Amino acid sequence: MSVTIRKASSDDLGIIHDIRRDAILGISDDFGVIERQAWADRRSPEFFAERVAAGDVVLAVSGSSGLGWGSSSGDYISGVYIRSSSGHTGVGRAIMSRLESDIVKRGHECATLDSSPNAVGFYVKLGYTPVGPLNDDGAVPMRKALRAPHNTALQTDERRASAVAD
Ligand SMILES: CC(C)(COP(=O)(O)OP(=O)(O)OC[C@H]1O[C@@H](n2cnc3c(N)ncnc32)[C@H](O)[C@@H]1OP(=O)(O)O)[C@@H](O)C(=O)NCCC(=O)NCCS
Repeated sequence: MSVTIRKASSDDLGIIHDIRRDAILGISDDFGVIERQAWADRRSPEFFAERVAAGDVVLAVSGSSGLGWGSSSGDYISGVYIRSSSGHTGVGRAIMSRLESDIVKRGHECATLDSSPNAVGFYVKLGYTPVGPLNDDGAVPMRKALRAPHNTALQTDERRASAVAD
């Protein structure tokens, strides 16, 4: 299966909504049916219009099928949802990799997110660490260093230059 990751457009709002519902309703064990239904119903397709217009949403597609999507803004990963039939095939990891590279391009050294309890193991696999108490929604704040501080090399060079000058 060849998977492409591309920016979502306003034409994708329906599919974004549909993937999210499918991903949430497909979660096993951790949540009861009522909780999953309430989580899935919390958003309408229009809710994502602003994020999509801002260029924050990326969509994984295979041919004409949407498999999953993720969104980020600043250093924050605001959502990752993979269709349950495409779960555990590496689509989530591929989307996270694209979001992390977008975050680095925006000049950040760390990625942050709030994980629902069912997804903590997924994020740990990708190098994220819990960084504090549960937030008000019961989500786990997590963080991952993406690269060395931007100015480390510069500072080292500056120190070297000043040592030579001394
Ligand atoms: C959590 C979710 C995004 C994972 O996506 P995915 O495409 O199945 O993940 P991948 O196939 O890329 O898995 C990457 C690795 O994480 C592991 N993994 C995936 N889901 C996991 C989970 N819930 N718990 C622990 N490990 C998990 C995989 O086994 C894989 O490990 P490996 O590399 O050793 O084989 C997806 O299951 C989903 O959309 N869940 C419902 C919505 C949700 O909870 N989103 C997150 C909200 S914060």
